[in-house]
Amino acid sequence: MMRQNWGSDARHRQFMTNGVPEPYASMRDPLPDTLQVLARGRTVFDGTCASCHGARGLGNGEAGSELSPPPSNLVALAAMPMMRSDPYLYWVIAEGGAAIGTGMPAFKGALTSDDIWSVVQFLQAGLPGAGLPGADLPETGGSEER
Ligand code: HEC
Repeated sequence: MMRQNWGSDARHRQFMTNGVPEPYASMRDPLPDTLQVLARGRTVFDGTCASCHGARGLGNGEAGSELSPPPSNLVALAAMPMMRSDPYLYWVIAEGGAAIGTGMPAFKGALTSDDIWSVVQFLQAGLPGAGLPGADLPETGGSEER
């Protein structure tokens, strides 16, 4: 088993009780499932998320090392059916953790919605090639452990 690295216990409890709020609850990814979208998502991840979540998304980035709760392991998240949904991921990334007092930033002003959907797809695919700049994306993004 991969070591779980959950900084999102409070978030998961809130989600189990209240679900995802509107307008996010009814949002669905409008982008096609293409390698171009995945590549864009990886660029967003490398430039915007890896500092806290780690180059491979395991939750161990330098900028997140002092945060309490710590950044989540996003590779493990990709394997959780309820958490990997379009509405949940878009909501978390757009609104961040202000409402639950965590250090997860809100990206709705900093990223376009296409950038957010791209990184959502990249997370759902299991972060293929994260931390391996220049590496070709695999034909299918797996969620296998690295
Ligand atoms: C300043 C550090 C920081 C940055 C930068 C950051 N995050 Fe986070 N993130 C956190 C922390 C801390 C948590 C855990 C607390 C929470 O869930 O709010 C978290 C939680 C999450 C979760 C919820 C995980 C779960 O288990 O439910 C997702 C999804 C996520 N981040 C995605 C991203 C994406 C995508 C980016 C880049 C666009 C990003 N984060 C950038 C700190 C960061």
